[in-house]
Amino acid sequence: MSIMNRHGVFERHSLLLTIGILVVVSIGGIIQMAPLMYMDNTIEKVEGMRPYTPLELAGRDIYIREGCYVCHSQMIRPLRDEVERYGHYSLAAESMYDHPFQWGSKRTGPDLARVGGKYSAEWQVDHLKDPRALVPESIMPPYAFLADKRLKFENISDRLRTERFVGVPYTDEMIENAEGHLIAQADPDNLGYDYFSSLMDEYNAASGREGTVQARDWDGDPTRITEMDALVAYLQMTGTLVDFSVYEADDLSNRR
Ligand code: HEC
Repeated sequence: MSIMNRHGVFERHSLLLTIGILVVVSIGGIIQMAPLMYMDNTIEKVEGMRPYTPLELAGRDIYIREGCYVCHSQMIRPLRDEVERYGHYSLAAESMYDHPFQWGSKRTGPDLARVGGKYSAEWQVDHLKDPRALVPESIMPPYAFLADKRLKFENISDRLRTERFVGVPYTDEMIENAEGHLIAQADPDNLGYDYFSSLMDEYNAASGREGTVQARDWDGDPTRITEMDALVAYLQMTGTLVDFSVYEADDLSNRR
């Protein structure tokens, strides 16, 4: 009996064929996954990463709620044209506190992984209110209503606690003071005065470097804290935590 005839057994029994396919496919899967389980670390160690502040986290929730990811990715690939356009390629460590991550694969608009600091907060507010006022050919929808919606943050401590549950290293102080920290980052001069230095101390310590937390009135309306405040605070810090003027890419051959 030749080997070709034996193959006939598989062709005539669908269950055998299914098992055969599973065996063959899992060989490929094991080759791909097994080495990862024996590597000490699959995420490069970098300095500067810290958990999102309460205001940034609230802004990120709005980013997800509004479906910004439907048109925007947050992952710069290590390809020359991407790096020249958007900056240093994204590191795995840069999304280690992202639940869920926002890498995405759809780019109707540009990648936003490093949009933080690319424009002023005023530009971001104007652009979100009316994209075509700044970029006439834009097809991005307007989000002016965010500036009229008061940010709801009564449950912000629980929100941080949930993140901690899935592995983000929020300290007890961060969770306890979340509401005060949120106010301090959106309205540092008035209501947030008492919490301002605690906000800076906690998050700078987590980051291991100074200046990663900016506090200001983000949306140009100091009388209240809106969803626009939170979203712009988030946009303005994306991709800014790792200092690429001192970061050196890990040499793969040196990995322990
Ligand atoms: C229907 C697709 C679409 C959606 C949804 C969308 N955008 Fe955009 N966005 C675009 C396009 C196209 C551009 C490029 C033109 C422009 O700047 O307006 C853009 C540009 C931007 C820019 C400027 C990026 C740069 O580097 O110049 C930012 C910031 C931005 N979008 C944020 C957001 C946020 C935040 C949301 C959700 C609240 C959002 N976008 C939702 C399509 C979209």
